[in-house]
Amino acid sequence: MGFPKNFVWGVASSSYQVEGAWNRDGKGLSVWDTYVHEQGHIQNQDTGDTACDQYGHIKEDIALMAEMQIKAYRFSISWPRVMPEGTGRINQKGLDYYDRLTDQLLENGITPYITLFHWDLPYQLYTKGGWMNRDITDYFAAYAETVVNRLSDRVKYWITENEPQCYIGAALASGEHAPGLKLGKKELFLAAHHSLLAHGKAVEAIRSCAKQASVIGYAPASWHLWSPVTEKAEDIEACRKMTFDAGEEPIGGTSWWLDPVCLGRYPDTTGYSYGAYIPDTTAEDMKIISQPIDFIGMNVYQTYRGKAGENGTCITIPNDPGYARTNAEWSVTPEALYWGPKFYEERYHKKLYITENGLSNQDWIFLDGQVHDLQRIDFLHRYLYQLKRAVEEGISVEGYFHWTLTDNFEWTSGYNNRFGLVYTDFKNQNRIIKDSGKWYRQVIETNGEIIK
Ligand code: FCB
Repeated sequence: MGFPKNFVWGVASSSYQVEGAWNRDGKGLSVWDTYVHEQGHIQNQDTGDTACDQYGHIKEDIALMAEMQIKAYRFSISWPRVMPEGTGRINQKGLDYYDRLTDQLLENGITPYITLFHWDLPYQLYTKGGWMNRDITDYFAAYAETVVNRLSDRVKYWITENEPQCYIGAALASGEHAPGLKLGKKELFLAAHHSLLAHGKAVEAIRSCAKQASVIGYAPASWHLWSPVTEKAEDIEACRKMTFDAGEEPIGGTSWWLDPVCLGRYPDTTGYSYGAYIPDTTAEDMKIISQPIDFIGMNVYQTYRGKAGENGTCITIPNDPGYARTNAEWSVTPEALYWGPKFYEERYHKKLYITENGLSNQDWIFLDGQVHDLQRIDFLHRYLYQLKRAVEEGISVEGYFHWTLTDNFEWTSGYNNRFGLVYTDFKNQNRIIKDSGKWYRQVIETNGEIIK
């Protein structure tokens, strides 16, 4: 028992958070580049201009992964680095960068898993209406084709989009993420629909251009997830139902994204007032959106706990005073890595990867020159323990990607949240493998046997 022999142990990152080189070698602007340079959006007025300069540190970062025995690296491609205007002109130097990254990973026995879009929308496309303009679905497919043409002789694993709840929800509804809009519901639903359609068109593009059989996934945020506080059948059922409920904040819910992609329909919104704003969907659009994919990527951080209330409803259990939480104030809910995969598999019948999971901590360099991050080890241990339980019950989770390799730019909180297994000194770009990185290496070396 334990983790299957070929279980994929990886780390994950995203272009804007690690690359830096925001204006080098012909890269175009993304909405994040313009947003961070405006006053008042990001803590300390931090920017991702340099971040951890992975653009200039590929060799070093891959050596760190190799030292930790990491088997796979999930990274994203910056759309405006490859296509500065988002459409049309290709920046060969941008593609060259991803070529080098891919080759060096493979030389070190690390499998690349590429995310095509992790929020850094080309600014030029934003000025054309961004996700509200239906043309973006074709631009995205053309961009996917460009990347796949260049890399698919060596890359097999693709993820179309990361967490639409953030780049549509937090970016266009609550105004917290770039480009910081607060759209009305009608426009928001339209943007969400286009994001789904872009996913479907990208899947088609990958399947038709790839030079080898591809394995394709989609990775929405999995925070809309309720774990039962007991194993009573009614508590489990209430939490299962709640996990897939369309929700008061519809585009935040899991089913809002995964039902169209995996079941070919929007979730039931009966009883919710926003139903009137959902765009009419043609069967043709739904067919594109629900192209068969190979796996669902689950990004799991904080989730909820629940139990059955009256008439099968779910009561969310509030956190105890002084509950365990991370530096980002996210509650520690490891059981989500058992219940989440179980619920997802039952509903969607797809293979799963944990494409992100991790903790932000107040890490610093100790007097002995090392970074002792016990909390992260305990966090990881607890979450992996629950994942092991799921895997041992036969739920098909193929791999686990820890967020993240190096401390990096954490969106609106800037550099205040350190998520890395490797400490980054942002003044001089020195890296130090933290205790958790050494511990993760043992997990990988024993294929999870030390998780007890
Ligand atoms: C996820 C994002 C990722 C990172 C982690 C901490 O929501 O996908 O970029 O910021 O949170």
